[in-house]
Amino acid sequence: MPIKLEIQDLSKYVIILTGATDGIGKEMARILARSNPKRLILPARNIEKGNKLLEYIKSSNAVSYTHLDVYKRQG
Ligand SMILES: NC(=O)c1ccc[n+]([C@@H]2O[C@H](COP(=O)([O-])OP(=O)(O)OC[C@H]3O[C@@H](n4cnc5c(N)ncnc54)[C@H](OP(=O)(O)O)[C@@H]3O)[C@@H](O)[C@H]2O)c1
Repeated sequence: MPIKLEIQDLSKYVIILTGATDGIGKEMARILARSNPKRLILPARNIEKGNKLLEYIKSSNAVSYTHLDVYKRQG
């Protein structure tokens, strides 16, 4: 079932949303992308799913996917 939320204009906000390749995070990414964010950054660990996510939300230039596994320490 589609989620409907009242979200105001997000043009002043840079948003980083993890867990956006599936489930509730994927739907939240779609909603946020349509709310005119200054930047929406979507870290994901799976490149293929990250690219499919950008297709799913029909992203603008304000939306980007970046590689990140939140379970692994970097460096
Ligand atoms: N669905 C439900 O009915 C339900 C009910 C109660 C609670 N929850 C909880 O709500 C949360 C979301 O559940 P969901 O079913 O909506 O989504 P989900 O299918 O469990 O997806 C979780 C998201 O987190 C990402 N993720 C997991 N481990 C990661 C890691 N190490 N690094 C980066 N990303 C990682 C997954 O990425 P990948 O695509 O790479 O796997 C995916 O995007 C979970 O914690 C779940 O336990 C869900």
